[in-house]
Amino acid sequence: MKKAIVVGATSGIGRGLAKILAQHDYLVGVTGRRTGLLEELKGEHPESYVVKSFDISDTALIANIMDELTAELGGLDLLVICAGTGDLNENLSFSIEEPTIHTNVLGFTAVADWAFNHFQGKKSGHLVAITSIGGLRGSRVSPAYNASKAYQINYLEGLRQKAWRKKLPVFITDIRPGLVDTNMAKGDGLFWVMPVEKASQQIWKAIQRKKRVAYVTRRWHLVALILKTLPKFLFDRM
Ligand SMILES: NC(=O)c1ccc[n+]([C@@H]2O[C@H](COP(=O)([O-])OP(=O)(O)OC[C@H]3O[C@@H](n4cnc5c(N)ncnc54)[C@H](OP(=O)(O)O)[C@@H]3O)[C@@H](O)[C@H]2O)c1
Repeated sequence: MKKAIVVGATSGIGRGLAKILAQHDYLVGVTGRRTGLLEELKGEHPESYVVKSFDISDTALIANIMDELTAELGGLDLLVICAGTGDLNENLSFSIEEPTIHTNVLGFTAVADWAFNHFQGKKSGHLVAITSIGGLRGSRVSPAYNASKAYQINYLEGLRQKAWRKKLPVFITDIRPGLVDTNMAKGDGLFWVMPVEKASQQIWKAIQRKKRVAYVTRRWHLVALILKTLPKFLFDRM
């Protein structure tokens, strides 16, 4: 039986992915702060899940918690970082930016570093993170969120390069969703909002193919191309 951890599996994409992994005979370590939701998930298939409740912004605790959870699972083949937060911040309030940075930058880095070092030690493994198409450009309405996602995208690229240089069979996958129907899809005029189930299935396919980068759903690849090529003078006026 393969072993996976989904960091941020209480709701949304992480919960959707945890269920798919369980359906494909993974033993899944599920994490998040809302213990009740994790226990509810475990209740659906007690033999498929191991629950560990923690806040990834408590970075000093991450290594020990991840070691403990991996020992409880009996090993680790795949780790998916879904935990993330962010909010619209028109008035540039630091109280909104701070938790975003704590979770998406510091917490993300603590988990990603632990995973890379763990997989390096066992000379195999697959690290997946859910970044965002938002990480491709800045945003006037959610500056910390987009900047934190740009950080994640760049960090994953660095880890992929490190694995290559060390000739490690460790795979790094960067999943960049457009809009998915969860609490994180915020703002007016949302379009192409995809159901969690559809997004999770496409993410699962990208994981199986060990893709470096995947846009979810695929039509968001088009938006990514436009975003990446849009000249700065036009982008500034949006
Ligand atoms: N929905 C979208 O449109 C969209 C688009 C692009 C990218 N994404 C990314 O997809 C990822 C998953 O988000 P989602 O859309 O599925 O939203 P969600 O339902 O709000 O899920 C967020 C998950 O992150 C966990 N989390 C947040 N802060 C945490 C912390 N400090 N410690 C531990 N866990 C924490 C939450 O668990 P607890 O609250 O229980 O801790 C929850 O399980 C995020 O990284 C998000 O940026 C989403």
